[in-house]
Amino acid sequence: MSGRHDLWGGRFAAGPAEVLRRFNDSWSFDRALLPEDVLGSVAWAEELGRCGVLTAAETRKIVKGLREVAAAWEAGEGRDSDAEDVHSFVEGELGKRIGPLAGKLHTGRSRNDQVATDLRLWLRGAFDSFHAAILDLAEALAARAAAEAATPMPGYTHLKRAEPVTFGHWCLAYVEMVLRDADRVRAVRNRANECPLGSGALSGTPLPVDRARLAKSLGFDRATANSLDGVSDRDAAAEYLFVASLHLAHLSRMGEDLIFFTSDEAGFAELPDALSTGSSRMPQKKNPDLLELVRGHAGRAIGELTGFLALLKGLPLAYDKDLQLDKEPLFRTRAVLGAALPALTALVRGLKLNRDRMSGAAADDRLLATELADALARRGVPFRQAHEIAGRRFAAAEAAGLGLLELPPSDGVTGADLASVDLGRALARRGAAGGTSPKRVAQAARKAAARVEAGRKAAAPGAGARSRG
Ligand code: ARG
Repeated sequence: MSGRHDLWGGRFAAGPAEVLRRFNDSWSFDRALLPEDVLGSVAWAEELGRCGVLTAAETRKIVKGLREVAAAWEAGEGRDSDAEDVHSFVEGELGKRIGPLAGKLHTGRSRNDQVATDLRLWLRGAFDSFHAAILDLAEALAARAAAEAATPMPGYTHLKRAEPVTFGHWCLAYVEMVLRDADRVRAVRNRANECPLGSGALSGTPLPVDRARLAKSLGFDRATANSLDGVSDRDAAAEYLFVASLHLAHLSRMGEDLIFFTSDEAGFAELPDALSTGSSRMPQKKNPDLLELVRGHAGRAIGELTGFLALLKGLPLAYDKDLQLDKEPLFRTRAVLGAALPALTALVRGLKLNRDRMSGAAADDRLLATELADALARRGVPFRQAHEIAGRRFAAAEAAGLGLLELPPSDGVTGADLASVDLGRALARRGAAGGTSPKRVAQAARKAAARVEAGRKAAAPGAGARSRG
């Protein structure tokens, strides 16, 4: 095929068969790594220059050529190439620009350390945008929590009305989950921020390169410590898929809650028009497709993670071609996160609450049965007995078709006990740290907003935390 630039023809009497190319080539997807491939190559050329393998003039020519290759790609050229992979493409394009000198770029390097480096660079960008998107969502949730710190809603266990909480408290539960995810992203990103370049094919490079200096020039915190590991390790990729899966599992749970809250049955909230979908048949429908897709994608992301671990588990050291299949799950997962997170953030911002309906449901006095038992316990009745009394009262009220508090005083429950129990007080009493009292929630919402800000600062380029493990 025209212009194809294979990197390994020498020992073969014939080029690769069409059936092999179709199966073996990765250009159709690893072209997404072109910017990283060029960055890595520029850094390699410059290091070769610094350690005297290339002359200054050669280095300049190669670097300039590489930058032109990247610019041409940016401008939309080269899409019709039939290269084997992104590395062959870049080297081939460089050769078209600077001639045989292009062949010096690969001195002391292998596609094995090259692709491992490309992937680390790509992952660093993926971690950073993932982190920023999580913080946007956390910020939206914290803002809603601040505004709805005193909005009562029923809290559930087993999806049965349990005890009242506030909507703000619900928001902050997800803030905790997603801020833990954000921390995970940073930790994994910092652990992964090391440079495999200079590991060669597997045994290291025979050139006098300074790998620490090379690593620094690419923004890495350090060079990988072992060449066999350097070319074959994909832990960072697995961790990306894990953190993404766990995060999507959290978002899926949030989606599930919101699907319920916005259902006709609950009616606690309404989806913004711009973020819901209709039915081609049923004119009245307003559907939570966005939330259902988040839930669906969470399932698929978990599949990507388990598939990836299965890909790794039997591989002998060092590089094996199976590793070529590491990229697409990462690309797909990043695309999902990139679409899902902003959409969900917009939905959190735009969700319309039906506060009357929510607090009406929270005022269901079944939710106050715990409160009644606590009232008895406050005046000295052992809680186990108080629980029994409140339970009997609940059954009697149910049989009489009355509310728990409507039934006249009886069976160890005084009028004063009944008078001490109401929704507002139930909420206000949960004032210990982590509880749902409106005061606590307002305070926790402020803290959450500050944590988001601190997270942004710590992640900003040049911040001290950037290079912490
Ligand atoms: N396309 C390959 C990959 O993505 C590049 C590394 C090729 N190395 C090799 N030994 N065949 O993994």
